[in-house]
Amino acid sequence: MGIDVIVVGLGFGADFVPIYQAHESVGRVAVVDSNPDRTASVADRFDVADRFASLEEALHAPGWDAVHLVTPVALHAGQVQQVLKSGRHCASAVPMATTLNDLDQLIAAQDEAGRNYMMMETAAYSREYFHARSLLDSGRLGRPAYFRGEHLQNLDGYPPYWLGYPPMHYVTHALSPALALTGERVESVRCLGSSRLTSDHIGVAGEGFGTEAGLFKLSGDEDLVANVTMSFFQLGRSYLEGFSVYGDSGALEWPQLEGGPMKEFAMLPHEPGQRGRVVIEKDVCPTGAADLLPESLRRFTDGGHSGSHPHLVHEFVSSILEERRPRVDARTAATWTAPGICAHQSALQGGTEVFVPDYGAR
Ligand SMILES: NC(=O)c1ccc[n+]([C@@H]2O[C@H](COP(=O)([O-])OP(=O)(O)OC[C@H]3O[C@@H](n4cnc5c(N)ncnc54)[C@H](O)[C@@H]3O)[C@@H](O)[C@H]2O)c1
Repeated sequence: MGIDVIVVGLGFGADFVPIYQAHESVGRVAVVDSNPDRTASVADRFDVADRFASLEEALHAPGWDAVHLVTPVALHAGQVQQVLKSGRHCASAVPMATTLNDLDQLIAAQDEAGRNYMMMETAAYSREYFHARSLLDSGRLGRPAYFRGEHLQNLDGYPPYWLGYPPMHYVTHALSPALALTGERVESVRCLGSSRLTSDHIGVAGEGFGTEAGLFKLSGDEDLVANVTMSFFQLGRSYLEGFSVYGDSGALEWPQLEGGPMKEFAMLPHEPGQRGRVVIEKDVCPTGAADLLPESLRRFTDGGHSGSHPHLVHEFVSSILEERRPRVDARTAATWTAPGICAHQSALQGGTEVFVPDYGAR
């Protein structure tokens, strides 16, 4: 018994197969990859009986309640629509899509199908995110004042579809924590490209930049800004993917080097006659929020992307069972994705301010 789930795309997607299998409310799990060797090897590794040769074949099979797409970015928009039109619920890897038109189409597809769409944003379920959330909720950071995000990753040698990929089209990991923590959206963005792509790095998207640096103005009366740097090419720096949050009485900073401790800051009250306020700093290694998960999924919080994968699976499955929208439904996903599309547009226009549509996310 339970819902039956098909996982499509078995590179990163393979990580999710054992988590669905362990979920007490999931019945059967099937796998699909366009590469039959990969399908066979993942199915054998996790003892999966149900294997399909293509998404189309899977969608023609009777039964099966939900599909989790972990396929290349350019396929997301079309495949999500195929899944929703077939009457199944659909989870999709980030990004939701890479054009504003596709974001609109996916919101319409979710609404018309009356099925759940969820963008599987790892950054909004990471240990660090849960820690930042608890610091803000307990008042230890004070009022939010500023955000930073960085995703620096060298994509040389990745599958060819990544060649020349506009870095801001993948902004969600670095930006969504600020939006999730505040509940705000991005009103407008000014972004500059840095390091014009060399001819050997230009891909299907055409000319662009190895690095893009954007200032995202959040909605609300506080004039908050998220300062996000994205880089995929031509930057001699090791991998970094994280966010920092600053309040008026404390802060939480992502480590300079992945895997290191975060820095937590607490600013003491101002003393008369003192120049500047004293700030106490300490190292923290957030442990996550395994207690939010069913017992059978807790062991997976030791896994990739800061323990986020079991939380994503649990939210997707629970939203279906509870007949409610998932936390990152199509409107929220568009709210987190569109700022990057607009940021790349701004970079191509030399840094002009670009206004971001309001998708009416709750
Ligand atoms: N932290 C995160 O959220 C995170 C991390 C890594 C990757 N991703 C996303 O996950 C997706 C997959 O990433 P990856 O690194 O595994 O990519 P990949 O290209 O290495 O693997 C994609 C897999 O999908 C298969 N595939 C391609 N076309 C298919 C089709 N039409 N039907 C079925 N299978 C098909 C390929 O054979 C391959 O096995 C991407 O969209 C990426 O953006 C997200």
